[in-house]
Amino acid sequence: TQMLLLSVLFVLIPLVLSTDQLVFVQTLFRHGDRTPTGTYPTDPYQEDFWGVPWGELTTTGMKQEFLQGQRLKRLYVDKEQFVSAKYSRYETTIRSCDAPRCIESASAQMAGFYSGSPTHPNDLPDWPSNWTPMPIHTVPHNEDRELEAGTDCKRSDALTVERVLKPSFLDFIASNWKIIADIIMHSGGGVEADFDTLQHIWGAIGIEKGVYNLTLPDWITDELYDGLGAAIEEGTDYVDGGAGFNYPEDTELLRLRSGFLLKEWINNLNSAMSGNGLKYHAYSAHDSTITGLLLTLGAKENVIGKANPGYASTVTCELWKRDDGFYVKFMYSDDAYSEFAAITRFITGCPEYDDFCPISSFLDRSQKYIPQSANECNAA
Ligand SMILES: *[C@@H]1O[C@H](CO)[C@@H](O)[C@H](O)[C@H]1NC(C)=O
Repeated sequence: TQMLLLSVLFVLIPLVLSTDQLVFVQTLFRHGDRTPTGTYPTDPYQEDFWGVPWGELTTTGMKQEFLQGQRLKRLYVDKEQFVSAKYSRYETTIRSCDAPRCIESASAQMAGFYSGSPTHPNDLPDWPSNWTPMPIHTVPHNEDRELEAGTDCKRSDALTVERVLKPSFLDFIASNWKIIADIIMHSGGGVEADFDTLQHIWGAIGIEKGVYNLTLPDWITDELYDGLGAAIEEGTDYVDGGAGFNYPEDTELLRLRSGFLLKEWINNLNSAMSGNGLKYHAYSAHDSTITGLLLTLGAKENVIGKANPGYASTVTCELWKRDDGFYVKFMYSDDAYSEFAAITRFITGCPEYDDFCPISSFLDRSQKYIPQSANECNAA
């Protein structure tokens, strides 16, 4: 019985004494549902059709962000009792890309996250219920290396060109010749036979049909539509620097497109470990920002395959203090309707069977993705 007692104690003591403590959370989310950012000349659905400008957040998108904000509130305010229900700038920082849809998304998501905050007037009948205005920080688009992947970076542009000119990628473009020929013949634009053209057309029709179920012109057959969607899925991660078409990942390209964000997140982790007191840092950006981050973590394929991150999809990075040191835990939610699931084990260099990654392992594995300075963008 002594042995039994002893083993019971050994099982119980860690449970009782466990001092796992959440120290800091940073999140990266994609904006919500939006209109296309533009379209081809003969498209029957031009800007006027949508009722809001090109690329703008729709009311559906606002709703998605609000719901995602509420899900994060349940996690970090209600369940973990980590962030206070009452908004404070000493606890929370919000940063967004300078694109209207991203700023609007940040605003909608934080309205959900702080829907329990008492920091708003109650004596104005038209004041939106439970809404606290919050500062959303941003930097100009062409200076935002953290959130606009590859912006104003000559070296990453050059590497992308190099990548799309590799023989097996050119073969892939050529294998889509029928789609490209139909686009050139019918879309009314002076378009090139390249991946940009495919992305441009898909950027419009993928939303028109895939999200809004609009009737497309006759030349866009189901075959063309499905073939184009498949081609985009097949090529995008590769063009962004991921492995594909018999080439390994381009670590330098990933570093220049997404390493500035990774660097910022690691700086945030270091500040949090030295006790700066900030608890929650939210970042509002694009699908390409999330794709870039997941590629840089080596986790993209295992988390969402080749798919594009959905509207309001969110990555969280938690910093935990455990008995033997600091750990990071990453989670991902596909969209406004999906729960968060741990993805830490998919990060290269992190333990394969654990939701927690020792900070030293995380820093080591991240090293090659961290740019020394913005000067790397000017390299020849
Ligand atoms: C999409 O539109 C078609 C034709 O306009 C209609 O038959 C179909 O039910 C719609 N699908 C959905 C999911 O709304």
